[in-house]
Amino acid sequence: MTEARKRTYLSPPDTGPEERRLLLDAFDSNWVAPLGPHVDAFEREFADAVGLPHAVALSSGTAALHLALVILGIGRGDDVVTSTMTFAATANVIAYVGANPVFVDVSPDTWALDPDLLEELLKRRAGSGRQVSAVIAVDLYGQCAHYARLTDICSRYGVPLVEDAAEALGATYGSQRAGVFGECAAFSFNGNKIITTGGGGMLVSHRGDLVERARHLAAQARDPAPHYQHSQIGFNYRLSNLLAAVGRGQLRSLPGKLERRRAINDRYKRELAALAGVTFMPEAEYGRSNCWLTCITVAPDRFGATRGDIRRQLESENIEARPLWKPMHLQPVFARCEMHGGSVSEDLFERGLCLPSGSSLTADEQATVIGVLARTPAITQSARGAAHA
Ligand SMILES: Cc1ncc(COP(=O)(O)O)c(C=O)c1O
Repeated sequence: MTEARKRTYLSPPDTGPEERRLLLDAFDSNWVAPLGPHVDAFEREFADAVGLPHAVALSSGTAALHLALVILGIGRGDDVVTSTMTFAATANVIAYVGANPVFVDVSPDTWALDPDLLEELLKRRAGSGRQVSAVIAVDLYGQCAHYARLTDICSRYGVPLVEDAAEALGATYGSQRAGVFGECAAFSFNGNKIITTGGGGMLVSHRGDLVERARHLAAQARDPAPHYQHSQIGFNYRLSNLLAAVGRGQLRSLPGKLERRRAINDRYKRELAALAGVTFMPEAEYGRSNCWLTCITVAPDRFGATRGDIRRQLESENIEARPLWKPMHLQPVFARCEMHGGSVSEDLFERGLCLPSGSSLTADEQATVIGVLARTPAITQSARGAAHA
């Protein structure tokens, strides 16, 4: 019996001896708690890496987005606009505060919130007197949204902008890094992200008052008193000191991880260039993606197989690949929400696939992925031929 091929994951954790050393240091210090010296240091080092003065470490990117809305005063009955092309957490947090998600399609050239559609919507709303309370822009698959346009539109209509940079640590827009564009921004350290704490997040802002409010709410909104006193509803959203120690180690290796993901993306582009009907996610001229995931779209009539055929063929070799995010306006749970446009994201979902892109992907693993893609049309056609025989 042949042994099964070791599984190749989409974007697994990539950790090293430095994380282990820092984790053991945290453990041995007995700061085994949701606060401690590694949390403080991680916040400082992370804020520096993004280029902002304030950061608070939290238990997830979702917690960071949730608190972003709470500290901006978004609540029941408010309308919050976001890109339909995202992970569910972006939309869920709008529901957590009792607000209504309003979804907008993405631009075909960035896969991020379409500024023209947003402007049209805010203009119409301003005329109708039903203002939007906030906009959450998503830096999809590690590429910044079009912030020159989005910040201009939001400021003209007086709507606060939140940046969902969960996937975009290390990406740039012009000379600035992802995370600096909104009132505040959320990052994720989930196991599949470019750096991980095994679960965690960070809220960053140029405004110290916002970050301090989030810090207070994240620690159960405990008032300064010797007894337990609370004047507001709080949350238990702090990051463990153990996990912050891992995050510090991960952050130190961020430059190498960015280089590695870019090299993986370059190789896919180089070696798959000859395949008709395979197109890569466009990289906008205004910045540099962190190449979190390499994404393709497949035109079945030109390629000779669908993205589903590719995914199944990769799976048969024990390789994980995933369709692009299913747009929020197509999700049963958000089916009744307001939606503007939709054809771009629907097409991306229909034809898009994320390829294994982790910084620990080996050259051999990537060669196998590339080989499977190249063989898929012939395998699919011969399987179809056999079915018809
Ligand atoms: C775009 C986006 N927003 C939010 C999140 C939520 O982050 P977390 O899983 O850390 O809660 C994620 C990833 O998981 C994401 O990809």
